[in-house]
Amino acid sequence: MRIEQNFSLEKYNTFHLPAKTRWFMEYENEDDLQKILHDEYFQECLSLHIGKGSNLLFINDYNGIILHSAIRGLEVVREDDSFVWLRVGAAEVWDEVVAYAVSKGWGGIENLSLIPGETGAAAVQNIGAYGMEIKDAIETVEAWNQLTFEKHVFRADECGYGYRTSRFKDPHQDPHIVTYVTLKLHKQPDFKLSYGTLQDVLKDKEITLQAVRDAVIAIRQAKLPDPEVLGNAGSFFMNPVIDVAHFEKIRQQYPKIPSYPSAEGKIKVPAGWLIEQCGFKGKQHGEVGVYEKQALVLVNLGNATGDEIALMAESIRSAVKDRFGIELMPEVKYIA
Ligand code: EPU
Repeated sequence: MRIEQNFSLEKYNTFHLPAKTRWFMEYENEDDLQKILHDEYFQECLSLHIGKGSNLLFINDYNGIILHSAIRGLEVVREDDSFVWLRVGAAEVWDEVVAYAVSKGWGGIENLSLIPGETGAAAVQNIGAYGMEIKDAIETVEAWNQLTFEKHVFRADECGYGYRTSRFKDPHQDPHIVTYVTLKLHKQPDFKLSYGTLQDVLKDKEITLQAVRDAVIAIRQAKLPDPEVLGNAGSFFMNPVIDVAHFEKIRQQYPKIPSYPSAEGKIKVPAGWLIEQCGFKGKQHGEVGVYEKQALVLVNLGNATGDEIALMAESIRSAVKDRFGIELMPEVKYIA
């Protein structure tokens, strides 16, 4: 187990904010995690479990304990003619898991290539891109209840999955720490190519898992900044879902508004489009920028603080609210 005091989180948040945490604890296995959970000091302290911090905005230094898993491992735990079940430690870097599955010829996560972060956080957040969500590849999630100290193996349908959410994010559920995720992958890939740009890039190409992975990587690299080069947390806001009457009212004034059908007859509108219409795309204020190729991404131009990023987000939220009557909700989690 690794324990550090006054530890810089710069490498543990993809905005690369120089926030510090009072304590940083990293455990290698479930036994060590149990020891931490039972510890009285831990129980009294404010604590937060993180992955690689690809979805976090540290507003201040963290006056508590940041927990991080170092549980690694990729293990085939079951196999039949059609499927393979791959059990993955929460600390495995997600894109390395995708690369491994693709190299083995196992389908089901290839559209989720190059998403930053670790596997445990990916399952908590229900990462999604290009017509695929991790929930559809998940068989089970192993997690420890922080109140009862018991381990539970959740089937995917018990995880409360929705758009960028799960029971592990729900404040009304017992807090849990995810240690392993078991993926059910297809030996005969069932390609998901509905996303328009993906079809365009793959036109005239032989469709293989590697070709899809390469296409997704090319699309992401063209549109999204590399967090290692320009600090960012991917989409800052979620795409809002509005009712048809509201959408039609906006469409009268903006006939080109893009949209996608959503659950319960509602309509999903790309937040990036709304933000661009409000004139923010490519704008910079101090050390914070709105990425010039994708307005949904806020970037740290060098020495931004969490506060400055939050202020930019607030200006965007109020401009979109004023112009379209739509409340944008952050996808990024604010840590105050
Ligand atoms: N658009 C604009 N201007 C912009 C950005 C987008 O007009 O600056 C419009 C365009 O019409 C475009 C549409 O928005 O066709 C959709 O844009 P894009 O395909 O880039 O997807 P998105 O809805 O902005 C979502 C996810 C991304 C994911 C992509 C691809 C959310 C919040 N974001 O973005 O996920 O990679 O779809 O599937 O759902 C993330 O969660 O961090 C993330 C990057």
